[in-house]
This record gives sequence, structure tokens and C-alpha cells, in this order.
Amino acid sequence: MDIHITPITDPTTAATPCLVLPVSGTGPGDAEQALDQACGGLLATLRQRGDLPAKTGDLLLLPTVSGLAADRLLLVGTGTEPLGEAGFDKLVSALFGRLREMNIDAATLLTGELDVTGREQPWILTRLARAALLVSYHYTDTLSKPRPAPTLSRVELAAEDSDVHRRAAARGAAIGRGMNLARHLGDLPANYLTPTGLAERAQALAADHERLEVEILDEEALRELGMGALLAVTAGTEEPARFIVLRYQGAGEDQAPQVLVGKGVTFDSGGISLKPGAKMDEMKYDMCGAASVLGTLQAVAELELELNVVGLIAAAENMPSGRASRPSDVVTSMAGKTIEILNTDAEGRLLLCDALTYAGRFQPAAVIDIATLTGACVVALGHHATAVYSNQEALGQALLAAGETAGDRGWPMPLWDDYQKQLDSNFADLANVGGPEGGSVTAACFLARFAEDYHWAHLDIAGTAWRPGTKKGATGRPVAMLSQYLIDLVD
Ligand code: BES
Ligand code: MN
Ligand code: ZN
Repeated sequence: MDIHITPITDPTTAATPCLVLPVSGTGPGDAEQALDQACGGLLATLRQRGDLPAKTGDLLLLPTVSGLAADRLLLVGTGTEPLGEAGFDKLVSALFGRLREMNIDAATLLTGELDVTGREQPWILTRLARAALLVSYHYTDTLSKPRPAPTLSRVELAAEDSDVHRRAAARGAAIGRGMNLARHLGDLPANYLTPTGLAERAQALAADHERLEVEILDEEALRELGMGALLAVTAGTEEPARFIVLRYQGAGEDQAPQVLVGKGVTFDSGGISLKPGAKMDEMKYDMCGAASVLGTLQAVAELELELNVVGLIAAAENMPSGRASRPSDVVTSMAGKTIEILNTDAEGRLLLCDALTYAGRFQPAAVIDIATLTGACVVALGHHATAVYSNQEALGQALLAAGETAGDRGWPMPLWDDYQKQLDSNFADLANVGGPEGGSVTAACFLARFAEDYHWAHLDIAGTAWRPGTKKGATGRPVAMLSQYLIDLVD
């Protein structure tokens, strides 16, 4: 998908398979008037009859219009009220959903006709560019007869050709591509994407970007590091675990890095604490935290952001077998803390606690882990918000603000000491489960015990990383939130 900023002074001369005109319920804008004149009053007639798309996101395709250089004119309603972000999102998803289905290879959007309350033109361009990328996502890997790919491959955004506008569009496109990478990795079945496969994807990503380097640690290296908690998760599977270390160097060596840590459980059966059968297939998505780390690093590398970012991925499969960890096992984490495994299905925190300890060696400016960590998070926030925990107010706020800007929202959750006693164990320093109450919080509190030495945030994406049900598919979240957070650091 190519995205271009195109300055258009006269929309009637725009030669394109499809010209997109936003139309307001309150009256014609400049572009509508110019187009109306060129096509002999057609738009004014439609407006008089009340036949223009009235509600936000309503669409009307005029398949041929004489007098215009464009082959087709697609009208999209902006509504009668000033357009807010929710309305804009609705409009964008309706518009691009339609463009995806049309048999056209390019479209030109008259973006000057769009106004979003409280947002500037660059924000609009970023969002439109991202939306264009997202509709180009097309899963084919495991279909013998792939559904036809969308034909749309070029989107022109009509706007003044300035550095700011070009950068805005480039950011949206990079974020969109990062989200698509995360979606693709998430959607791949567990037999197509193993921990080894995830490591290979990381290597391929690093090969594509000069400033990105990768190192893969195997199980022997993890044993030497003393990652007893991570190794307990992988004990039951035939698939070897991998620990992936990516380093993006966009600033001087002395600049402390942002460290992103992803949960990469390529399949979570629950282990000996086996999950029930219903919807267990969705546990192929239990590596979406890892996928978001790769997607974000791809966006960062593509945009050549001037900061240092480290990506850490703990990749393993959680399976039952004669060698699997048992409830009651006590393991020693890399930090030296002992952990009583009361439930082998609480494996994410076991992987992550060792990854968080490893993160300390980078003397990080901040560490952010991303994990499909708890079903309880889905109960608390549903599929709309990512749970945001942080041991530092400013870091949590920065992530929440980035999520607002990017339309990839989080919601703050507590890390109070009051919850910690739920993790007490008679036989180890702490237990890996804290009982049924506040399950997302106690999981975060478990991780907090391994992240005391630096500024840290934890994103529980169990509800946001994929859509369940008939529209099942990875969303690419929270690549947009993370990318925006990093962009905000350099802006
Ligand atoms: N990967 C799951 C969390 C999950 C479950 C995410 C369902 C999305 C949908 C995680 O490893 C897990 O199994 N967590 C347990 C923790 C419990 C045993 C304390 C859970 O949420 O049930
Ligand atoms: Mn689990
Ligand atoms: Zn899991």
C-alpha cells in the first residue's frame, strides 16, 4: 500500500479511479461546491432532495460523473454535528471498509473537508494513512484457495505537501504496517508459529533494518542465566523455548533505552492445569504481546526514531506432558526469588518475571511489558481498553495519553500493596496465583515484585489483542499506543 500526500487545488481535475468527498449535513463545503459546478449541479440537486449521505459514515457511490477527471465519486457523510473522534473513527472504518470492497486500485481523499474537534490536520492524516494500511491486511498463509486480495494499493491524501504532513502520513503508514505485522503473527496457528518461528521472524526483521540487531538465546543459555521460572513453563513441550533480544540503536550509546518486553506463549493449553476445550484455539493469540513488540520495533526502525529501544521476547509453548511442571512445584527465578506454582496456567507471569529481571541489565529509562496475561482483565474491561499498570505515575500517564492520541486506549489500574498478600505462599517467596479476586491486579502485582529497580509499566492486553467469535482475528493492539508513546518521546 502506497500513501501519498497530494496537494489538490482543484478537485475537479483530480484524475483518480475514486475521488472521496466528505459531505456535511450542515451545507456544502468548498470542494463540494467546486465539484457541483463541474458536474452541472448534480450535488446541489442531491442535497436539495435530501439524498446526500446524512449520518456520519453513510456512503453514496456515484459510479460515473460527467465533468470530473475522476472515474467515480464516493460521498461520505460527516453528519450534522461537529465531528468528534468517535464519529471520525466510525467514518473512517465505513469509508475504508467500502474502498476495500471496490474493484479499484487507487483512491484520492479530499481530507481538507474533514474537521475533527480538538485535533489538527496532521493527526487526521496519520489516522487516514493507518486506516489505509489496515484494510490492506489479508491473511492467506493456511488457505488452499486464498480469498482474493483487496485491489486498493494506493491512497492519495489531498493536503498541502509539507514536511509535517508527509511525516504525519509516514507515521500512520508505519504504525499501520507494524499493526499488520502483529496481526499476522497473532493470526498464524500455533503449529505455524512456534517459539523458534517467532525467533526467525525477529531475525528477519533485524535483517531488514540496519539499526536493528537481534540475539537469540536458547534453553542452555537460559539455564546459565538461571531463568528457572521461564524454563518451568517450557518444561512440558517438545518445542524449544527462545529468548529474543532486539536492540534498536537510534540515538547515542549513552542514552538509556526504552525496553519493551513481550509475552510470547505461542500456545497456552494451560499445561497440567489444563484449560477447558471451549475457545482454547484462541490461545494461539497468547503471543500477541511478543507480536506487538515486533510490530512496534518495525515501526520505530522504519521511522528511524532517534531513541534507543530494546525488545525482549520470552517465547515458549505451555503444554502438559510427563515432563511438565506441576501445581506445587517450587522454582527459582533469575532474580533468586522462589515461586510456588499453584496453577500451571498462570504461566505468563513466570516467563515475564525472568524477562523483567533480564531487562535490568540495560539500565533502562523505562520498561514496558505487554501480555495477554489474564482472563480477569477481560472481565474487568471487556474488549475496549488495555489495562495499564505502572510503578511510576508519569510513565503510566504517558502511555494513557499516547493511547488516547492513537485511538488505542488504555485504562489505569491499581498496584496497591494491599493486593500483595494474596500472593503469599507457605513454601516459597511468592505464589504464582492470587486467588479469584482481582485476578488482573494480582498478576500485575506479581510482576511488580520483579520490576522494583526501574520505572515500569505493564499492559494487560487479554481483552484487546484479538477479536473473538465469528470476526476472529488479531487487532494489532497495542502497537499504536506503544508507537505513539515512543514518537511522543522524540517529538
Ligand atoms: N493467556 C491466559 C490469559 C487469557 C485467558 C487471556 C483468556 C485471554 C483470554 C493466561 O495465561 C491464563 O491462563 N491466565 C489464567 C490465570 C489464572 C490461572 C490465575 C486465567 O486468566 O485464567
Ligand atoms: Mn495460561
Ligand atoms: Zn497465557
